Amino acid sequence: MKIGILLGSTRVGRQSHKVALHLEKELKERGVAADLIDLADDPLPILEGHAARSAQVEARVQALSARLRAADGLVFVTPEYHGSFSGVLKNALDYFWEEFNRKPIGVAAVSAGKLGGINASTQLQHVVLSLGAFALPTKLLVSEVHSAFDEALQVKSEPIAKSTARFLDEYLWFAGAIVQAKQVAAERAA
Ligand SMILES: Cc1cc2nc3c(=O)[nH]c(=O)nc-3n(C[C@H](O)[C@H](O)[C@H](O)COP(=O)(O)O)c2cc1C
Repeated sequence: MKIGILLGSTRVGRQSHKVALHLEKELKERGVAADLIDLADDPLPILEGHAARSAQVEARVQALSARLRAADGLVFVTPEYHGSFSGVLKNALDYFWEEFNRKPIGVAAVSAGKLGGINASTQLQHVVLSLGAFALPTKLLVSEVHSAFDEALQVKSEPIAKSTARFLDEYLWFAGAIVQAKQVAAERAA
């Protein structure tokens, strides 16, 4: 099983990448292949029609599409901005549909405040359904992210370490069940 981690925070001085890196490390420690897809690496412009895309943008879209397609499931990592998930993430999601269709998707939301991105996470789970994907009911809420990691980007908050482990337990059970069901259906159809 291969899990993509889609990081929807791109601003200079961001904190959410710490959560994405922690998820990547934890997945790898569990023997699960993980691909951290950082939207800051090859930014996508505000979505326009296909005809308006330059060759450079088209190449970025295709490269991102290939990485999303290669993932059996995804975890979306979003900061909470003004009571919702990031515009950067929504813009990226709007480029694709098939890439997410019928895939298990977990949501991790990150905030500076005490509520751990609860609004962002709930709204993003709703969007997951509109992508034709399956939203994991359990979400990972990382509150007060500024004090949750040390300078080496290792998690130092025990509650966050524990909730991340519980989130991944749930996510991997859910994703494993969906991947297995797809394999059985494909074998029956063959
Ligand atoms: C434009 C903007 C809006 C924000 N709105 C909220 C908010 O509504 N609630 C909250 O708890 N934190 C809010 N924050 C703080 C972020 O949650 C905080 O920056 C956190 O570190 C996660 O975002 P980051 O990955 O950009 O660092 C906001 C930050 C920005 C830049």
